[in-house]
Amino acid sequence: MKSLSANAYAKINLFLDVVAKRTDGYHDLESVMQSVTLCDTVSVTLGDNVGKCEIRQSMEGACLPCDETNLCYKAAKSYLEHFAIEQFDIDIKVKKRIPASAGLAGGSTDAAAVIRLLDALYEKNSTDELLCEIGLRVGSDVPFCMLGGTCEVRGRGEHVKRLPSLAPYHIVVAKSNDESVSTKLAFDRIDNTDCYARPCMDFYDYVKAVSSGDRQSITHGVYNIFSSVMGDELPAMRCLVERMKQYGAQCAIMSGSGPSVFGVFATRDAANAACEKLKRDSFACVCEFCTNA
Ligand code: C5P
Repeated sequence: MKSLSANAYAKINLFLDVVAKRTDGYHDLESVMQSVTLCDTVSVTLGDNVGKCEIRQSMEGACLPCDETNLCYKAAKSYLEHFAIEQFDIDIKVKKRIPASAGLAGGSTDAAAVIRLLDALYEKNSTDELLCEIGLRVGSDVPFCMLGGTCEVRGRGEHVKRLPSLAPYHIVVAKSNDESVSTKLAFDRIDNTDCYARPCMDFYDYVKAVSSGDRQSITHGVYNIFSSVMGDELPAMRCLVERMKQYGAQCAIMSGSGPSVFGVFATRDAANAACEKLKRDSFACVCEFCTNA
């Protein structure tokens, strides 16, 4: 029996624009994604039962289905299929801390961790490029989650380019318990409207600001197309953004297709103070930007 564990980090979008609808039904994005220290812990065990073909899963801390729809299961399947591994006895355990359906890539980051852990357990030593390709079959955010840190992300999510690390940044991530969003529905809303706020900075200028660590432009230029398209349907999300700003955030905005919100604070103490107030009626935690691996 062989077993390995890893932390799987949540992602936020510092910049997220949708630039085109593709012929495959997906959308082309322009995004700067950042992994943060809020994380799940994923453990994968290869059992000794040769001749089996079984994937077992268990989740601690969340009511997510442990069936074939779970992204961890899909990730293991995608990996096994790629390497034509026909006999397997795999046990996946996830300790969930990242809120689900929140725009934080909780499922995608667990899936990326499963793929990396399987690659280590099967001693394949695959390239990041191949692992991202296997991950993309599971979900559009999986390639970014495979690399983590600070990245420019384009296309459906398959073009991921590392940018210099931004740490240390102190942030609060919060989510109302009363709202959740279907990613597909959020993209459908974009297809059916052209009435939304445009970014105050061009995407490539924003990437330049991130590359040079220009904190003022990074916080001033945060953008998420979904926040104006979905805003009217997510009053609790809007309220969290306003409260974060009121509690001293240098910027606060929704992450991904929502409804989670993150705010950037000048110091860890300022983040802690805001978090204590938000925690009274919502999920809230203080975390930092992760550095590149
Ligand atoms: O790739 P993933 O399964 O996470 O995407 C969920 C849904 O979000 C897709 O079925 C699609 O409707 C939408 N999506 C999209 N364009 C992307 C990513 C996701 O339209 N780049």
